Amino acid sequence: MAEKSWEKRLSGEPDDLTVDFVESLSFDKRLYKYDIVGSIAHAQMLSEQKLITKDEFRQIKDTLIAISEEITAGKFKFDNKYEDIHMAIEASLIEKTGAIGKKLHTGRSRNDQVATDIRLWMRDEIEIIQAKITLLQKAFVKLAQKYADNIMPGYTHLQRAQPVSIGSYLLSFVERLERDFIRLNNCKILLNISPLGSGALAGSTLGLDRKKSAELLGFSDITYNSIDGVSDRDFCAEFIFDCSLIASHLSTLAEDLILHSSNEFGFVSVDDAYCTSSSMMPQKRNLDVAELIRGKTGRVFGSLIAMLTILKGQPSGYNRDMQEDKIHIFSSSDTIEACLDMARGIISHMKFNVTAIAAGLDEGFLDATALAEYLVKKAIPFREAHGIVGQLVAKCEMKKKKLCELSLDEFKQACAAIEQDVFDSLGSANVANSYITEGAAGPKQAKRQIEYWTKQLDQR
Ligand code: ARG
Repeated sequence: MAEKSWEKRLSGEPDDLTVDFVESLSFDKRLYKYDIVGSIAHAQMLSEQKLITKDEFRQIKDTLIAISEEITAGKFKFDNKYEDIHMAIEASLIEKTGAIGKKLHTGRSRNDQVATDIRLWMRDEIEIIQAKITLLQKAFVKLAQKYADNIMPGYTHLQRAQPVSIGSYLLSFVERLERDFIRLNNCKILLNISPLGSGALAGSTLGLDRKKSAELLGFSDITYNSIDGVSDRDFCAEFIFDCSLIASHLSTLAEDLILHSSNEFGFVSVDDAYCTSSSMMPQKRNLDVAELIRGKTGRVFGSLIAMLTILKGQPSGYNRDMQEDKIHIFSSSDTIEACLDMARGIISHMKFNVTAIAAGLDEGFLDATALAEYLVKKAIPFREAHGIVGQLVAKCEMKKKKLCELSLDEFKQACAAIEQDVFDSLGSANVANSYITEGAAGPKQAKRQIEYWTKQLDQR
């Protein structure tokens, strides 16, 4: 086995426990493709700068590609002794090419190398997550299309509030996910600069062409301070924050699904494919998938706090603490990918029990606010209108009636301005169809939004 070059500096072998403690190979091996792409770009730049010959570059490149194929095929022997993926690949290159391979690390440190690798990885990962967000958005839009004309109770404080189109309810998730998509775009733009060539922290006395390697790797620019370049992990914290908000949005969805599919609500039916049963209670049909989407939020939020904690209090420059970043960016992205997939599965196969929802729609005075607005249209100041309707609701509760079941006389007793046309403003369906503000939660607005989102998402 090839000796590590720094073993010349240290007088003894590291303790076995130390070897296992410092290694990151077990989790950073998934960076191998990015490490190899980064090394090839670095080597090409070295050859263009005449720091290695063209022939040496060609041999380094071909061997690195062969190593990449070996790893992909599962034939590469990973040994923790090499600490991390960077050392493992370089050792193999040296084993295969001898003195030539020893030139690859010219003007480079693992510090700028790993900073480059994770930016490359994250750039791709963001695109995968964005694609999954788009697919979930499309599933929501499709479902919204089916149920745009159906009305359900809208809630605040989990109390019946005002009637809404089922379509509008579903589209509210499309909006949330759109912000997630844009946040990830911003993250991608900010991280897409190359730290390669920053060396350990101070750059190099060799004539490296940093813009060249950056261009080869598709970065939009280079970092302009080598000390910051090797130690900046802001984008990792940002990425995990973006994942955290996705997790939070999916958690709200999961909570809604769990509530709405319960016997108590009975609003939705989730396909059996996403349910589990109980080992004891034979009748059970549990929405464990949604519960786990909600529960896995803990992992992602935990990673956000972990990442911020890793960064806090490090002195300037690269510190080994940063090796821990990968645990959390990988965990967050894996979790979010899986949750987005499961959410899409559920939404694509979900049904609303429209008859049951409609049957209960006129419970809970969902039309009270619209009635107050009816009074406003009859020139009653809103605060007064609010009081009048409050009294009417109290009266209805006493008489076990709905607002629409009151007689015109009863209405007139409460307020002389009320006329026969009041009945057009009562009942959930009438109310939802009367919303006229832009972005309101009625069927009309839902259909307009569906049109917008269908076009928008098709262009992605
Ligand atoms: N495995 C390390 C990491 O992920 C690579 C950089 C190590 N650098 C060093 N000087 N020890 O951060």
